[in-house]
Amino acid sequence: MERLQKVIAHAGVTSRRKAEQLILEGKIKVNGIVVKELGTKVSGNDKIEVDGIPITREEPVYYLLYKPREVISAVSDDKGRKVVTDLFPMEERRIFPIGRLDYHTSGLLLLTNDGELANLLMHPKYNIEKLYVAKVNGIPTREQLTKLERGVNLEDGKTAPAKVKLLSVDRKKGTSIVQMIIHEGKNRQVRRMFEAIGYKVQKLKRERYGFLDLKGLSPGDYRELTPHEVKQLRNLAVTQRSQY
Ligand code: URA
Repeated sequence: MERLQKVIAHAGVTSRRKAEQLILEGKIKVNGIVVKELGTKVSGNDKIEVDGIPITREEPVYYLLYKPREVISAVSDDKGRKVVTDLFPMEERRIFPIGRLDYHTSGLLLLTNDGELANLLMHPKYNIEKLYVAKVNGIPTREQLTKLERGVNLEDGKTAPAKVKLLSVDRKKGTSIVQMIIHEGKNRQVRRMFEAIGYKVQKLKRERYGFLDLKGLSPGDYRELTPHEVKQLRNLAVTQRSQY
């Protein structure tokens, strides 16, 4: 038996908090009867409706994908481009990405059908650490890298402190490889941060998300998260919240 709000959230309908609101508003029916008590427990056999629409009760699944470049972080694309869920077998297509990586960015992307965990991890207050490796044109100076570390002004605000490390320099080609660890998830953040100090990102890869990395995977590969990793992810969101 599980709490009704948890079951609704797991079905990907909404967050647990909003599910509680829906219950209080009398929008949830269990076996045809409106239920307004938050503590109500339901079993796998109970039929649950949200605003008259039955929810699909699926086993939650969690995947870690090595997103290749030139794939959209979405479940469909109106321009017909390849999307991340195309990389999974047909029966797994109910999953959706947790957050996004740009079309041209490769690297670690989580996918799930668990709306609640997705909401938790994507919420701005749960700032999970993400490690990116960027190939940029030119060779940034120490001073410029310090600017990135301290925060640069973007049109949607100043970026929070970041950890930045120059990994290598190709003087012949005039390019550099820079590692950057950030907690925020502003749109195109890493690319825009480099633009702000005068450099263009030629290639970008997310190598780490919290404690998860791409070990053993090639572009296009994916693996299921272990139950322990899922638990750790939930804990991570909660502990990160208290730190920032
Ligand atoms: N920052 C970017 O610029 N792009 C991404 O895909 C992720 C972070």
